[in-house]
Amino acid sequence: MQAGRKPNIKNRVEEATEAAVTAFALEQPAFGQVRVSNDEMLRTCGLGKVEWVPLSPVKEKIYEQFPKLPAFLLDTPAFVTELMGVTYYCHLNRLIDELFVDEPEVQIRLKELLDEITIDEVAHVGQRRNFIGPTGMRVSKWLVKPFYTMFFNDIPEIGILFDVNKMIRDGESFDFNQLPDYIIEKSWIPSYCKV
Ligand SMILES: [Fe+2]
Repeated sequence: MQAGRKPNIKNRVEEATEAAVTAFALEQPAFGQVRVSNDEMLRTCGLGKVEWVPLSPVKEKIYEQFPKLPAFLLDTPAFVTELMGVTYYCHLNRLIDELFVDEPEVQIRLKELLDEITIDEVAHVGQRRNFIGPTGMRVSKWLVKPFYTMFFNDIPEIGILFDVNKMIRDGESFDFNQLPDYIIEKSWIPSYCKV
């Protein structure tokens, strides 16, 4: 998940770096694929022209400060926010099954796109897992409820479409091995997390 979608001019990197990243993206289409899937997902759902509500000034400040925290404070919350993404996508997958039961073509296409996005997000969780040890894992379980509650309460539609309590329970009991095999195969998960 990406916090704050508003492009921040201050975040712009030097041209040379940007050129290198662009070159890398062109060489590694699989990475750019996620971006394409995200955009197509929105367009397919008729949300291609959606305008993102800017963050409130307080939230913007919080999001700005977050990456500046020292690693020992940042790593566990960062893991939980990535986990929140995976939990959300897994629940969205089930919702697509329910909602488009009479429209199999739409259902299949949306799930294909969602799979690409989920595979990417699982890799973020996998990567973030490497930054925390057993203590961080314990702390992350305590953080799931306040983080999920705070974030999802902010989006009124979530409470209508999803069971937030179930999402919290899933987040607390998350295990990479419970993901579908084809997601595990295509994503990146630390070897010590696999059975
Ligand atoms: Fe992510």
